[in-house]
Amino acid sequence: MSKAQRMSLALFLVLNILAAPVAQAQRARRDVERSIEALLARMTLEEKLGQLQQLDGHADGRYKDEQPELVRKGLLGSTLNVRGVRNTNELQRIAVEESRLKIPLIFGFDVIHGYRTIFPVPLAEASSWDPASVERAAQVAAAESRAAGVHWTFAPMLDIARDARWGRIVEGSGEDPYLGAALARARVRGFQGADYSAPDRVVACAKHWVAYGAAEGGRDYNTTEVSETTLREIYFPPFRAAVEAGVGTFMSAFNDLNGVPTSANPFTLTRVLRGEWKFDGFVVSDYESVKELMNHKLADGEADAARLALGAGVDMEMVSRLYNKHGAELLRQNRLTRAEIDEAVRRILRVKFRAGLFDNPYADEARERAALMNPEHQRATREMAARSLVLLKNERETLPLDRNLRSLAVVGALADSQLDMIGSWSGDGRKEDAVTLLAALRAKLSPRTEIKFAKGCDAPCASGEGFDEAVRAARESDATVVVLGESADMSGEAASRSSLELPGRQTDLLKAIHAAGKPYVVVLMNGRPLTINWAAENSPAILETWFAGTQGGHAVADALFGDVNPGGKLPVTFPRAVGQIPLYYNHKRTGRPSDANNKYTSKYLDVAWTPLFPFGHGLSYTQFRLTGLQLSAARIPADGRMTLSVEVENTGRRAGDEVVQLYLTDAASSVTRPVKELKGFERVTLRPGEKRRVQFTLAPEHLGFYDREMRFRVEPGAFTVTVGNSSEGGLTSSFEVFEQRTPRRRVSSGRVN
Ligand code: NOJ
Repeated sequence: MSKAQRMSLALFLVLNILAAPVAQAQRARRDVERSIEALLARMTLEEKLGQLQQLDGHADGRYKDEQPELVRKGLLGSTLNVRGVRNTNELQRIAVEESRLKIPLIFGFDVIHGYRTIFPVPLAEASSWDPASVERAAQVAAAESRAAGVHWTFAPMLDIARDARWGRIVEGSGEDPYLGAALARARVRGFQGADYSAPDRVVACAKHWVAYGAAEGGRDYNTTEVSETTLREIYFPPFRAAVEAGVGTFMSAFNDLNGVPTSANPFTLTRVLRGEWKFDGFVVSDYESVKELMNHKLADGEADAARLALGAGVDMEMVSRLYNKHGAELLRQNRLTRAEIDEAVRRILRVKFRAGLFDNPYADEARERAALMNPEHQRATREMAARSLVLLKNERETLPLDRNLRSLAVVGALADSQLDMIGSWSGDGRKEDAVTLLAALRAKLSPRTEIKFAKGCDAPCASGEGFDEAVRAARESDATVVVLGESADMSGEAASRSSLELPGRQTDLLKAIHAAGKPYVVVLMNGRPLTINWAAENSPAILETWFAGTQGGHAVADALFGDVNPGGKLPVTFPRAVGQIPLYYNHKRTGRPSDANNKYTSKYLDVAWTPLFPFGHGLSYTQFRLTGLQLSAARIPADGRMTLSVEVENTGRRAGDEVVQLYLTDAASSVTRPVKELKGFERVTLRPGEKRRVQFTLAPEHLGFYDREMRFRVEPGAFTVTVGNSSEGGLTSSFEVFEQRTPRRRVSSGRVN
């Protein structure tokens, strides 16, 4: 064989090896499509409508009495809340052994931040700015869920939230689309892995599609009005990222959007999701959101609601039963087509096939026992909690506390509340499993440190009766940890607030402790940004811990005594007053920027217009210096890329983490743009004195925006980059983009993040 022949043979073999997995995946996809069509051809209309129905189980995981019979007749495709291997296997057995077509059920459940081992609430996880840890948290949640018979989680929640009054801000990743997209990818990967038929993975669900977080007044379920530009640039990117990461399902939302409720919105459900993004999984409605189309007065009766939702692209109906009740009649009247129904069934079957349910419909009790609360999972949640902590303030190195204290006072009911530690919507989590801060401090400190616990008041802190006792404890101790915040049920679904103050008399309690004149630190537990102006001004140190999960107490205690160095950053802006809302860092400019010397500029009479703590803020027990910002080019073509790098150095005396953040500002453009936008970040760990160069890439997807015709494009002109440790300040440089030579891209091919 000649050298040339040998080389071409080698090339042929390499190409074949590389192509093999692709070919295999294509074959698998084709097989799935063939199986779907074969099944579809055998299904009656009733059985098809049955696949589109999801019903609720009991809160404790049991199925409801009517469900076995519905399953037997092929009239139920899925349940939510039915969980635990015994329950799921019982119902599944009826589906795969007693129903005519033996189509397995898909069991869904809200695994929002852990199944039994509870992780920090999603907003806390987002504070880690650490996609790898967030992915790991989702992976653990998936392993426990699947082991307990759950195939499908209603997570990740990808709603951008610019309004802290909205209680569901706790369930998401905050206000920024870039961070939101990065964490969306991480969570989808964590839940689903490369193949969600694996015995330790579940199907993910990107929710709530879409703009649910824009509820007017921050009042849950309220109407939303959002321009297409803001949808595409702010609200869509995390969802787009989830589709790119292969998310199996979407959930349509409760809210009305620009006059068309999102559970019947052809623009979002069909044009964008199926058309532009080529999503081939299925969409489930939110809880009775199909029926609620009647409350919106979009639907004129039940049949109309079913027609509007299914016709717009909601494939599965959660809890209400209008598809089943009216599907046949709608078909007869030609108000729905057979093709529309078939397409919904096809999408649901596709996910069931991909989840491996036809091959492995059952779960295994031994596996369930081994998975839940597994020690590995406890380590993972403790680690995640440690990475979620945000040090908001630390004057004169008040924190960390000295381990050799003779006495420590712990004040605040939240310090010893297991229920609050695991936060709202905690899956199958049990409060008995949770380690509170008080318990963790007792475990951590030697018996030489006397710990005095005084609640001060019980939630919602209506009375000051216990204040004296708390003050006495503070006075008699070397230091005090004051734990303040919200109870877990003050955020989450249907938990909007009109005030962002610490509930009840907690600020008075804090003032009383402050007046005792002894060293103290504030630990916050809360599900949303709070207007903690007094504490921010007067208290020496504030550690934001959100709701830190099953092992949260240990992580917080570790941070208070320096065994963990907090390195998280805020994924949301903390306002000074509720009246400033919406307040977010990537806002537009005004023709009259705030000017203290000019009344007729954009500001308030009674409060500064700036935040209390900006997006991206977070301190450390050590210090970092950023230097040497370098750009690979001063000019790039509009379709080009550039790299940027900066050196970050730990100049302090402890190891610690810094999150280097890259923001981009467009100097001038054909539509107005935000003052700055996050376009890169990296969390780095450095030993004292250690330096590292962190590198970022800017590409058209970062530089572009939607123009007046909704085309995604990069316009020539000047840009400024700012690299810093929060959304305020940092090193800046600029570069220019010049006209590209290749044709402009259109919306359908453009990325939005
Ligand atoms: C309503 C909530 O909006 C949604 O997030 C959740 O997944 C469903 N209920 C099911 O519990």
